[in-house]
Amino acid sequence: MGCAKSRGKNGTLEQTQNHTHHKNRYTKDPTQPGPNTKNSSLLPGQDLQSIDDGSAKQKVVVALYAYEAGNKTHLSFRKGEKLQVLDDNGDWWRAKSLTSGKEGLIPYNYVEAEESIESNDWYFKNIPRRDAERYLLAPANKPGAFLIRKSETTEGCYSMSVRDVNANGSAAVKHYKIRPLDDGGFYISPRITFKKMEELIKYYQKQADGLCRQLGKPCVKPKAEIQWDEDAWEISKENIRMIKRLGAGQFGEVWLASYNNTTKVAVKTLKPGTMSVEAFLQEANLMKTLRHDRLVRLFAVVTKTTPIYIITEFMANGSLLDFLKSPPGRKLQLPKLIDFGAQIAEGMAYIEKMSYIHRDLRTANILVSESLLCKIADFGLARVIEENEYSASEGAKFPIKWTAPEAISYGSFTIKSDMWSFGILLYEIITYGKIPYTGLSNAEVMARVHRGYRMPRPENCPNKLYEIMTSCWKAEPEERPTFDYMQSILEDYFTATEDQYQQQP
Ligand SMILES: Nc1ncnc2c1ncn2[C@@H]1O[C@H](COP(=O)(O)OP(=O)(O)OP(=O)(O)O)[C@@H](O)[C@H]1O
Ligand SMILES: [Mg+2]
Repeated sequence: MGCAKSRGKNGTLEQTQNHTHHKNRYTKDPTQPGPNTKNSSLLPGQDLQSIDDGSAKQKVVVALYAYEAGNKTHLSFRKGEKLQVLDDNGDWWRAKSLTSGKEGLIPYNYVEAEESIESNDWYFKNIPRRDAERYLLAPANKPGAFLIRKSETTEGCYSMSVRDVNANGSAAVKHYKIRPLDDGGFYISPRITFKKMEELIKYYQKQADGLCRQLGKPCVKPKAEIQWDEDAWEISKENIRMIKRLGAGQFGEVWLASYNNTTKVAVKTLKPGTMSVEAFLQEANLMKTLRHDRLVRLFAVVTKTTPIYIITEFMANGSLLDFLKSPPGRKLQLPKLIDFGAQIAEGMAYIEKMSYIHRDLRTANILVSESLLCKIADFGLARVIEENEYSASEGAKFPIKWTAPEAISYGSFTIKSDMWSFGILLYEIITYGKIPYTGLSNAEVMARVHRGYRMPRPENCPNKLYEIMTSCWKAEPEERPTFDYMQSILEDYFTATEDQYQQQP
């Protein structure tokens, strides 16, 4: 794989030769298929290099998360356990527990070097400000909950995000810049400086001293991404134990299940005859390369026996549609609803960037995590459904009300027809899951929309949001916005004029 990857403005190859050993950019996540596996595929920009700086022999690391070994060659460990690294080649490192003395393979991204800032509970590395807010606002955190992250904008700086309470009692997040000193120290206010980040935190845990409030506990960290063995793509039904039926759709049922008795997963079973195995596998091989925080992760498939199983990430709060209609969902206020929209636009912006098309974007196909984060599900699946009631536009179950006119008429599914569906999805969100065009039949909707009719503004929907919605429903597909633009509009819905950082206290 090339070292020089990109072409500079003047057409010369930019030198990325003497690469730094920057893990996030140059090693691949161990859950990704390796270069030797049959279904290997790398995302653009992803590059494989082995990190071998000869330092493994002495390296002691601390576990950031607990890990339960999926098979005998792997090593289980508890959060906080210290491990000596014996071989740090590749993504699965060989290590020995300093507690039990046992040896085995460990996922590199579950551990950090002892003594490094990264081994602290409150350190969230390079998450964006937006995600810091989402994490801190999760129900598990109290006022004073905080985290430290790398500044997105200023090299060498850190940011501290703190959960606070507004005058009206609602939760809010404040951000502070932590600036570096030449001698390696840090400060928020030049009045008081610290040699180490740990000291700074301890100080502000004792007194607010100008911050919005005294620091409390570190923000609850979302669970680490589930590790999935790179070779386990086509798996056997015997390794799956069904636990509980979660729901059913047109194509089959969805179950909560356990894989190898260690990993919680969701299993979608496909009614026999819904799709051809070849077509499905072809699409699934593409789908599994799409990996993003805002997309439900596809882990594995069972295609050798019927019914076909699709094994995905389990999402504790079910579909966004069901969630919006539930009592906790109905209580959500405009900012959270807009944030749901922004999260989905973010996931779709990734799909757009990857030149993929969802084809079935609706709140029923968005899933909600334990900490109330949204992920997009069922991307691309609609394409491989055999012609039937569901897929043919004249079929009774085709989601006419979500589908762009050109996609209904000529089967022209594009990222722009996805944008049309996104507008309908915004309508579902702001109405807490109302059926679009309530009272109209599919045929009536098709005829009216063709003549230029659009849904009116729902009562509780601000004009500004309604304008965003209707921009998705432009008759000309090219006139509809991009998801990249949509993401920024929704993310800045409230903060366009607000200063993003607090003044130095
Ligand atoms: N990964 C998952 N984690 C948790 N629950 C899930 C998961 N996937 C699906 N579900 C639940 O199962 C239900 C059925 O999902 P499915 O995708 O089969 O149908 P649908 O999208 O609701 O409808 P349709 O068949 O019309 O597309 C969902 O509404 C959701 O409640
Ligand atoms: Mg679905």
